[in-house]
Amino acid sequence: MIYLDNGATTFPKPQNVLRACDNAQRYYSANPGRGGHKLAMKASEIVYHSRSNIASFFGLDDPSKVVFTINCTTALNTVIKGIVKPSEHILISSYEHNAVLRPVEKLSKIGISYSVVPIYENDDEKTLNSFRENIRQNTRLVVCTIASNVFGIKLPVERICALCHQYGIITCVDAAQGAGLFDIDLSDSSIDFLCLAGHKGLYGPMGTGAMLVNCNFLPDSLIEGGTGSNSSQYSQPEIIPDKFESGTPNFSGIAGLSAGVDFVRSRGVYNIYQKEIKLVQRLYEQLNDIKGVRLYTEYPEEGGYAPVLSFNLEGYNSEALSEILSSKYNIATRAGLHCAPLAHKSKGTIEFGTVRVVPSVFTTQNDINRLVSSLKNLK
Ligand code: ALA
Repeated sequence: MIYLDNGATTFPKPQNVLRACDNAQRYYSANPGRGGHKLAMKASEIVYHSRSNIASFFGLDDPSKVVFTINCTTALNTVIKGIVKPSEHILISSYEHNAVLRPVEKLSKIGISYSVVPIYENDDEKTLNSFRENIRQNTRLVVCTIASNVFGIKLPVERICALCHQYGIITCVDAAQGAGLFDIDLSDSSIDFLCLAGHKGLYGPMGTGAMLVNCNFLPDSLIEGGTGSNSSQYSQPEIIPDKFESGTPNFSGIAGLSAGVDFVRSRGVYNIYQKEIKLVQRLYEQLNDIKGVRLYTEYPEEGGYAPVLSFNLEGYNSEALSEILSSKYNIATRAGLHCAPLAHKSKGTIEFGTVRVVPSVFTTQNDINRLVSSLKNLK
């Protein structure tokens, strides 16, 4: 199969990730932080190692600032619901995923307002002005994605966060589509919370994610329960990561995520990005030459886009086309709205969606050529 659905999750996973998950399950699968026996201690060490590895990868000096979650959605919900109070206001970008839109929409029912800030492709100054114009006196939080999961458009998140800090606004970045592809260094950053998916560009298993805390302010916990610490205390511990990590963790997933980070480090973030954006640029050029293919962004220049490309083919519904690509040509893409109606609304594709192609480090030019020749065939 030609797998071009790496925006949903990367596949295949690197060998070292598979090995780390298998070893964790096979040899060390006691409950980390829940017992003093040797195996539980070993499991705790593995979790700690993973936490430290992720902290250093993103420039955090303290491993406890890495809070493991089961996905990026949970990390985003923790920040959004744990920070903002009734009568306060949230800014989100016009390219946010439902992982952001739905929580803020839910909060709007209890007196929290939100504004969807328009993003201008390849015009960061206009985008920054757009944020500036939407800031209100009661704006408490800004949440923006590092790049659109549908169109790849990269947002100037560092500048948006720096601007919002000037107004005392807490900042949160959804890095689901950018971690492992862009250099993110929290040691010198205005990002207060960075939310990660472990199973995309970090090449970890599904069921992993993290909330990285880069400020002294903590949200309320989303859920409460056993943490293996302060067990006599009835109330949730206030220390991180315990405050946010109730219940038995995804132990083998956490081990695999650390291996994924090692894999990305060994290949080099910049090299991975270079390889993938070149494939997407080549695809863009090839699709542009096919009459009847509709592209929705400008040419994806290096630095301005994540390696994500959306298109449609005249005469085909996006979901039907994706289905034919799968059944007839054995090519995996994702079609429809990609859980991101705001992005599709921004680009005028809300009625019909798009077919989305996202390469990984394992994708070859031959894979892209096969997709292009299949589309030519269908045309
Ligand atoms: N958020 C993932 C995607 O964009 C699942 O496909």
